[in-house]
Amino acid sequence: MTLHEEIRSLQKKHNAVILAHNYQPSEVQDIADFTGDSLELARKAADIHAAVIVFCGVHFMAETAAILNPGKTVLLPAADAGCPMADMITGCQLRDLKAKHPNAKVLCYVNSTAEVKAESDCCVTSANAVAVAQSYPPDQEIIFVPDRHLGSFTAEKLGRTFILWPGFCPTHARITVSHIRAARDAHPGAPVLVHPECPKPVRDAADAVFSTGGMCRYVQGRPENTFIIGTETGILHRLRNENPGKTFFPLLELAVCPNMKKITLEKILWSLRDMQTVIAVPEPISLRARRAIEAMLAIH
Ligand code: 13P
Ligand code: SF4
Repeated sequence: MTLHEEIRSLQKKHNAVILAHNYQPSEVQDIADFTGDSLELARKAADIHAAVIVFCGVHFMAETAAILNPGKTVLLPAADAGCPMADMITGCQLRDLKAKHPNAKVLCYVNSTAEVKAESDCCVTSANAVAVAQSYPPDQEIIFVPDRHLGSFTAEKLGRTFILWPGFCPTHARITVSHIRAARDAHPGAPVLVHPECPKPVRDAADAVFSTGGMCRYVQGRPENTFIIGTETGILHRLRNENPGKTFFPLLELAVCPNMKKITLEKILWSLRDMQTVIAVPEPISLRARRAIEAMLAIH
């Protein structure tokens, strides 16, 4: 049996579904039943009928799926696939910040631990942060954690000021304005799309700012044939597959998230064979974190 056949047969045996984030290696995206951005994956995870979810992404994504599916088995094929941004704030640090701003509501990027979600009023993703923040009255004080860049992007869009936590994504932090200049010189006229996790000068120098799912939707409706993509390079696989007549260049070839690349086909196979690594969240935290995730899903 080929690796693919073995995975399919184990999937059938365990009634398992494979979900993959847009940044996953191409071969992992190809074997997945569903590929998407963080919001699409959270929605999918909330509506799954399989007994087992194999989550090809990083730890906080599998944790979100586990929180939304208490009775199911959620597997992360690479147990060490974490997100450095999610680890930049702890539940204890957020409790201290809340104590300093007792009237503030807390919006937390899904790129956060279950403990931080449990301390938050509502989660957001890069696809819905503006819509979620807009659902609060304009004079409501808002704490936004952990990504200062998505936080400042969201606040700017609404003409508001948030209390920001200084977290960031090390992969997107590598992208600079000089990369945009070089890409525009190399591909004149090609729109430059960047992710809101990019620093403000990069966002300002780009033509548009989108989540990975937003980029996929945007390019389909555009007349241009060439695009410069400023986010983790895994998204290029999906963009190229879905738009065979268009050309996509990475803004930065080195914008690679090492954690997203820890999952391989072999690890998916071992994960299904050995039912490892099970991601579970203790009930008291899970129940509170679930409220914040469901509050987000109810808005957008
Ligand atoms: P989205 O796919 O939701 O844009 O998320 C980006 C990201 O960094 C996930 O870790
Ligand atoms: Fe975390 Fe950035 Fe990797 Fe996303 S791309 S998992 S935010 S380090």
